[in-house]
Amino acid sequence: MSLPMLVNSVPQISKATLLQQSRTVPCCFFRKQTRRASSASSSTGATVTNATMNAPRQEQMSPTQVFKRQWEIYQVILDGDYLEHKALYGALQQYLHRKAASRPLRLLDLGCGDSDYISRVIEECGGRALVASYTGVDLSAPAMEISKENIHRALKGTDQAEWHTADFLSFATSCQEEYDCILMSFAMHHLTSNEKAEILVQCHRLLQNSGGAFLMVDIMRQPDETLTDYHVRSQRDVDHNWVGLTPEARAPFTDHMLKYDFPETFDLLESISKAAGFKNVTILHAASKGISQCLALES
Ligand SMILES: C[S@@+](CC[C@H](N)C(=O)[O-])C[C@H]1O[C@@H](n2cnc3c(N)ncnc32)[C@H](O)[C@@H]1O
Repeated sequence: MSLPMLVNSVPQISKATLLQQSRTVPCCFFRKQTRRASSASSSTGATVTNATMNAPRQEQMSPTQVFKRQWEIYQVILDGDYLEHKALYGALQQYLHRKAASRPLRLLDLGCGDSDYISRVIEECGGRALVASYTGVDLSAPAMEISKENIHRALKGTDQAEWHTADFLSFATSCQEEYDCILMSFAMHHLTSNEKAEILVQCHRLLQNSGGAFLMVDIMRQPDETLTDYHVRSQRDVDHNWVGLTPEARAPFTDHMLKYDFPETFDLLESISKAAGFKNVTILHAASKGISQCLALES
């Protein structure tokens, strides 16, 4: 099927469908568990590529097999830095480091997945010197089991950490805790525009007493770019630049993108952030390919 046909057939899914997908296929793309493991990138890439070509069709797999397959593919995406995680998280790290200068941060991570990248940031910034407490929220229980190991390594224990298997909008709505920073990394784009506006209202409520910040690392549309045009642009990037994956291995990513990725423009995000009560909206880093950004929303 040609790309335009695929893009034109983007279905408008309900939140219930998305949540069901998130439960059975926990995250579109996961990475390996430990930094030591992820250093074997090239051999992993070849293994994943070959394994993916020979793997059974997704609908024949158990949820555990699906999780493992998607997680391995995501590792190749990280090793190739196809979404520019290194630069985005470099900017995030600098921001967190500055913000923690007066005291360590109470961090809420909505859609935490396996917490791999944020746990590296915490570890590199001195663990508890950066983060006083960590709260991870995700629908995927398998991913959060890995998150526990990563955060345990970064904080040298989990006495100041907790995890919730929950929908992040429901969690934010019912939460009564106070935080210094709330992170949503490659997760907010799953929400509709109205849900993004609602979660920002709730997050502002959880941050306002501390003067805290909402930090968003995510895919973004260009100014005036339609969702269809974004999908076409992203698909072109995948086809031309994601050379570590075979077309077969790219297919689940493409499928997921068309069904579940609803990135916004900066203007829309800025406007719903201001409406939610955030005073400053700053681009900490815009990735060079124009697909993703790191934003700080200050309360
Ligand atoms: C692409 S992964 C990103 C994980 C991690 N934040 C990172 O940057 O590596 C998106 C995560 O959001 C989670 N997720 C998606 N929709 C969710 C929802 N409504 N509530 C909670 N978690 C959700 C998925 O299970 C997945 O772990």
